[in-house]
Amino acid sequence: MLKTLISRLPMLVLLASLTTLAAPAAQAQVNPTASSVQEQELMRALQTGDFVAGRVSIPDERAGALIKPGNKGWAGIQGTTLRVISVAAVLVTLTILAAFYAYRGRIRIDSGFSGRVIERFDGIERFGHWLLACSFVVLALTGLNFVVGRWTLLPLVGEDTFGTLSAWFKLAHNFMAWPFMLGLVWVFVTWVGRNLPSKVDVNWLKVAGGLFTRGLHPPAGKFNAGQKLLFWMVILGGVGLSYTGVFMLFPWLAGSPAEWQTYQVIHALFAAFMSVVIFGHIYIGSLGMQGAFSAMGSGKVDLNWAKEHHSLWVEEEVGHGKGAAGKPGAAATPAE
Ligand code: HEM
Repeated sequence: MLKTLISRLPMLVLLASLTTLAAPAAQAQVNPTASSVQEQELMRALQTGDFVAGRVSIPDERAGALIKPGNKGWAGIQGTTLRVISVAAVLVTLTILAAFYAYRGRIRIDSGFSGRVIERFDGIERFGHWLLACSFVVLALTGLNFVVGRWTLLPLVGEDTFGTLSAWFKLAHNFMAWPFMLGLVWVFVTWVGRNLPSKVDVNWLKVAGGLFTRGLHPPAGKFNAGQKLLFWMVILGGVGLSYTGVFMLFPWLAGSPAEWQTYQVIHALFAAFMSVVIFGHIYIGSLGMQGAFSAMGSGKVDLNWAKEHHSLWVEEEVGHGKGAAGKPGAAATPAE
């Protein structure tokens, strides 16, 4: 017996080694569907609002919650209601602006160009404005792609290009959030002092700034009541977008998934609100009003434009012989 065992020992060792080596290979052959949930079950859970959770290897364990009660309601708001609100808001605003242009045309400088200019915004003010403006435009366009890209861009460029573009848009949206927040703080710090309410604002608002009446120019300081409203809407809207946006970037900070979904809906509503406000602002700062754009372009505006739209500010600057940059006598200079 012993002799037989000894003679078969090499064979037994070989067999034992082969079994050990083969073990990991056998473990790797996992049936991928054996332990997973069937699609129909997931669909049923979605219908009834059951809780379905799996396991994830990323730090945020809550991401393993695949289907949660209440998700269906959020999916409805996110997929339909928010889309309808965003698209309607943009279309209604564009229609109103087109109607206003048809009624009023371009608001001209009634007394014509004087040939003399006055500094309206210095480099620090313009840098903050364009930092905020450029980052907002990128955020708005890339954000709009999340909402309507599938129906607008996809048919134009095809699936492959749309996929690549959307991935880049997503990155741009994530990274442009930071310059936007910096621009927001910059603009707030630079202009908050000039945007506090004052008595003249009441009269300006009563006559709607003369926007609907040719030749009517109610007195205003550096910023009129309409601009002050825009300023505060931009600040509040920007803070709302930034606060909720941080939870989009770092979902685990949001608390529960339901809270994250709430922030997502608020983010989209703020985005629609800001877009509407900014459409109006871009219109009046460019096409809608003669002589306005140069305030943010070269930083200088025609003296007659300034007298018509910001008479109290001109008195402050010229009347006291003080230029916009604080230099005596530097207020109005001949246009180049
Ligand atoms: C992209 C196109 C834009 C243009 C052509 C534009 C143009 C202008 C102009 C000309 C002014 C100065 C008006 C004056 O002299 O009184 C101004 C001011 C201002 N802009 Fe813009 N802007 C643009 C985008 C934006 C965006 C995206 C934001 C904010 C997200 C913004 C926020 C402001 C604020 C807060 C002011 C000061 C208040 C006011 O004048 O209404 N702008 N802009």
